[in-house]
Amino acid sequence: MAKLGFVGLGVMGGGIARRLLDAGHELVGYNRTKEKARALIEAGMSWCDSPREAAERSDVVFTMVTNVAALRAVADGADGILAGLGPGKVYVDMSTVGPAASRELAQRVRETGAEMLDAPVSGSVATLEEGRLSVMVGGDTATFERVEPILRDVGPKVTRVGEHGQAALMKIASNLQLAVQMLAFSEGVLLAEKGGIEREVAVEVLTNSAIASPMVKYRGPFVLEQPEEAWFDVNMMQKDMNLALELGRELNVPLPTTAVTNELLTAARGMGLAAKDFAVLFDTLAAMAGVETRLGA
Ligand SMILES: NC(=O)c1ccc[n+]([C@@H]2O[C@H](COP(=O)([O-])OP(=O)(O)OC[C@H]3O[C@@H](n4cnc5c(N)ncnc54)[C@H](OP(=O)(O)O)[C@@H]3O)[C@@H](O)[C@H]2O)c1
Repeated sequence: MAKLGFVGLGVMGGGIARRLLDAGHELVGYNRTKEKARALIEAGMSWCDSPREAAERSDVVFTMVTNVAALRAVADGADGILAGLGPGKVYVDMSTVGPAASRELAQRVRETGAEMLDAPVSGSVATLEEGRLSVMVGGDTATFERVEPILRDVGPKVTRVGEHGQAALMKIASNLQLAVQMLAFSEGVLLAEKGGIEREVAVEVLTNSAIASPMVKYRGPFVLEQPEEAWFDVNMMQKDMNLALELGRELNVPLPTTAVTNELLTAARGMGLAAKDFAVLFDTLAAMAGVETRLGA
């Protein structure tokens, strides 16, 4: 079995690392904030003092960090992943970043003699824990075939979508729909509520109707009660919407519903809700409709 390394043990990275450990893989790992890795260390993950060490001590090293700035922070420099790569090794980045940044990184990885795959995931904390995450992969076929069995231990649906950066593109094409759906769901709930239907009833009906995607099923109820910790906060959601809008401009694809929803995310930030789960799109729209929510009208 290949030795695995994992850098970025936040909500998603920590959960994926846990699945890899549970599947019996030998795992080493690093996180900027060591405290967050404590449970994984207790479960058998061996701690590394730097991303470089995680790359040096593994055959396949993964990253799952916030954005491009975070990716550069763990990949570059004397203690970065690139410094620990070499021929025969594979670097798999699972973070959601733009395709251009991902392709540029793949080129730099190649220069070390190693191979890279972009492998962002679709799903949430709940999907991850249930073992139902889907993984999109970009990169060459031979490297994909080497890593695919490991990715199947993360989630059952692993799809190679094309060359370097194509999975990053696919992920953004998928993610823009999360916020758009959440806004449309909020419109439906508010319309029903202002017309006299109880919010709980509207949520119950909609989450069991034809519009109930897996995301609407698990996030829809957040309009009744926000989770204590955001599953995916407004800032992170807006990062992906901005990536989508940039790509839309580049590829000449109008993204009207993405643009409108992005403005509502900006409004949410203006209301001081940036760290809340992006389901606060509901509260943002409710404020415009003069409807009181748990956050106030
Ligand atoms: N949450 C979801 O539902 C979901 C679903 C699919 C994809 N994603 C994607 O998964 C990625 C991670 O999201 P998450 O929800 O796991 O976020 P998270 O819990 O905030 O974790 C972010 C990780 O990035 C690290 N990081 C951030 N800035 C860094 C820096 N400058 N240097 C080193 N490490 C840095 C954090 O380290 P610290 O612990 O030290 O802060 C942490 O390990 C994002 O690209 C997101 O778009 C998330």
